[in-house]
Amino acid sequence: MTDIHIVGLGVSSVSQVTREAEQAIKASNEVLYLDTGVATRRFLEDRCERVTSLHDISYREGDHRLNAYHHMAATVIESALARAPVTFAVHGHPLIAVYPSFLVCDIATVLGLSVRVTPGVSAIDSIVAELKIDPCAEGLQMYEATDLMLRRRPLQADVPALIWQIGNLESSLHTERISRPRRFERFVDYLMQYYALEHPVIAVYAPPHPLMPATILRFPLQEMPRHAESIHAGFSLYVPATGPRSIQDVELLSRIDSPEHLRAITR
Ligand SMILES: C[S@@+](CC[C@H](N)C(=O)[O-])C[C@H]1O[C@@H](n2cnc3c(N)ncnc32)[C@H](O)[C@@H]1O
Repeated sequence: MTDIHIVGLGVSSVSQVTREAEQAIKASNEVLYLDTGVATRRFLEDRCERVTSLHDISYREGDHRLNAYHHMAATVIESALARAPVTFAVHGHPLIAVYPSFLVCDIATVLGLSVRVTPGVSAIDSIVAELKIDPCAEGLQMYEATDLMLRRRPLQADVPALIWQIGNLESSLHTERISRPRRFERFVDYLMQYYALEHPVIAVYAPPHPLMPATILRFPLQEMPRHAESIHAGFSLYVPATGPRSIQDVELLSRIDSPEHLRAITR
């Protein structure tokens, strides 16, 4: 039996909950959720008699987000010890940019509690659909915005980039406040090492509800600070490639259409 289900709720409120996640929710004695979708609470209350919003009880304005993550993980573990099975239900995919899920897994292992992770529809799934892009065609590099800059991770300009958490740039503290243009200036300076100032970029907020459209802001890289007031914590940044990379391995290219080569590498 599973003590703790960790499930994703998708990004478009309620409509992207998988049947697998719904089964886990229905089988649980408590659902502790991290999602601010308009219909989420009602959806969970219809399927489980005990529902707790971790967002409401964990985040405090100006406090370190890490404190909130510790509080969330501790609350999930306490609940599992008292009334397993329980579900930790998270916005999007439960392991993509969700540190508390990893904390829950680690603490559960120490305490001998069993954990099952069920995937969910992530922001990356919705962004790919909204922008109609194929991440396999040219590849895709993904980074968390502040981590990108802290580590000075190199970007490969001929590969599209998806940058997460641009609305939280430069701070590990929680806030509901609106960003100033200044928040994005250092980020633009960093990206300018790899892209021209006029390089087109796209700030995207995939629909948080099936009846709402996506918010897609297209602008040249240098104009990002001007969009500061619109870019909230739910946005990601898609940076298209500067151009295609030419084929380097012409010897392999000469073989990929060859029946003889296919016979040689199969049996
Ligand atoms: C804490 S992470 C959680 C990601 C989530 N677990 C997932 O799988 O999508 C929050 C970040 O995910 C991205 N994100 C979440 N919802 C989004 C949406 N509707 N549209 C675009 N990006 C989104 C943003 O980069 C945001 O800052």
